[in-house]
Amino acid sequence: MVVQDGGKSFLRVNLVWKLVILFVAGVLGVYLFLSRADHGLSYHSLRLDPLLQAWRKEDFCPQRFAKLEFAQHYPRPKTYSRGECACTPVHNFVILSTQRSGSGWFETLLNSHPNITSHGEIFSVRPRRHNFSIVSHTLDALYNLDWHNSASKNSCTSVVGFKWMLNQGAMEYRSEVSSYFKRRGVSVILLIRRNGLKRLISILANAYDRRQPMNGTHVSHVHSEEAADLLASYKPTVDVAFLKNNLDRYDLMIKNALCAFEGTRLLVIYYEDFVKNRKMQRTVQEFLSVPVMRLRSRQWKIHRGPLSQSVTNWKEVFRELNGTSYQGFLADDDYS
Ligand SMILES: *[C@@H]1O[C@H](CO)[C@@H](O)[C@H](O)[C@H]1NC(C)=O
Ligand SMILES: *[C@@H]1O[C@H](CO)[C@@H](O)[C@H](O)[C@H]1NC(C)=O
Ligand SMILES: *[C@@H]1O[C@H](CO)[C@@H](O)[C@H](O)[C@H]1NC(C)=O
Ligand SMILES: *[C@@H]1O[C@H](CO)[C@@H](O)[C@H](O)[C@H]1NC(C)=O
Repeated sequence: MVVQDGGKSFLRVNLVWKLVILFVAGVLGVYLFLSRADHGLSYHSLRLDPLLQAWRKEDFCPQRFAKLEFAQHYPRPKTYSRGECACTPVHNFVILSTQRSGSGWFETLLNSHPNITSHGEIFSVRPRRHNFSIVSHTLDALYNLDWHNSASKNSCTSVVGFKWMLNQGAMEYRSEVSSYFKRRGVSVILLIRRNGLKRLISILANAYDRRQPMNGTHVSHVHSEEAADLLASYKPTVDVAFLKNNLDRYDLMIKNALCAFEGTRLLVIYYEDFVKNRKMQRTVQEFLSVPVMRLRSRQWKIHRGPLSQSVTNWKEVFRELNGTSYQGFLADDDYS
């Protein structure tokens, strides 16, 4: 009816409609933007624990709307001032693994990156894992950049973490640890050695060197071919009566870990794949969101010879595992 009312009035109504549409589009746009930002879990929209909220309140760094899948923090260390790095956001991570799974080597590779600091096996010290409140105290200090050792970088660290063996408290306090990781936005790298038999042989050899160091003092990792060969010259005897049971227990521990840390931001890496495929270095760096580069380590692999030559009772071991689900562990070709 109004539309028939002559030129001017028609234009006016038309203009009103345009404004209404513009307004609706605007509201829709803002809504979409906000909901996207929410799903992107930007630092801004993360549900923060009280400690982080405190940091947030006095946060003088520019707000970041970057769409990230992990939390970024602006820690304020108690022990020093971050100075020009104060507004370099920090991403928290942890390497979860088991003994003799290549995690020492893996960690030296990460530490060769200028933006990554990984503080080593801090919970190998028993009193630090006496109960979870002590554990969380240590974690708080570490993620607040108040932890200092030789791994600390002088430059602006943008990724900080450490290496944690599953049997050093990570599984004992699994539910508390998992919720800590979720709450504090800790990205988890679970490094698993697929071949439990090779791992077991490495454990036996390492335990022998611990009791009776082959070169004066006990070493778990080596930096030269000669040192590797010396350690590999010792051949353990595998107790076949307990072999399957041993492998079953390892299997179960890995399954439980996968289950316990399922809800965290998780990257599962198999040691064998990481050795074989250089592209995995990229996967890890992208997961940690650092500029991708070639990572280096000076560590030497200790057992490089054929598996059959690395134990005294290979025939028995073979007989025990052939035809079982662990048969694949007997092959040498699983990596390099
Ligand atoms: C990584 O470290 C280099 C060298 O210290 C620095 O120039 C660069 O800004 C850092 N990058 C990130 C993303 O922190
Ligand atoms: C944890 O252990 C420390 C000593 O190692 C003790 O002081 C503290 O009270 C314990 N906390 C809990 C909650 O048991
Ligand atoms: C034995 O230990 C000494 C002293 O640490 C070192 O210089 C040497 O290279 C080692 N030799 C081997 C074969 O590991
Ligand atoms: C291993 O087991 C398979 C059957 O699963 C058998 O055919 C083969 O002969 C066994 N190998 C040895 C060396 O015993």
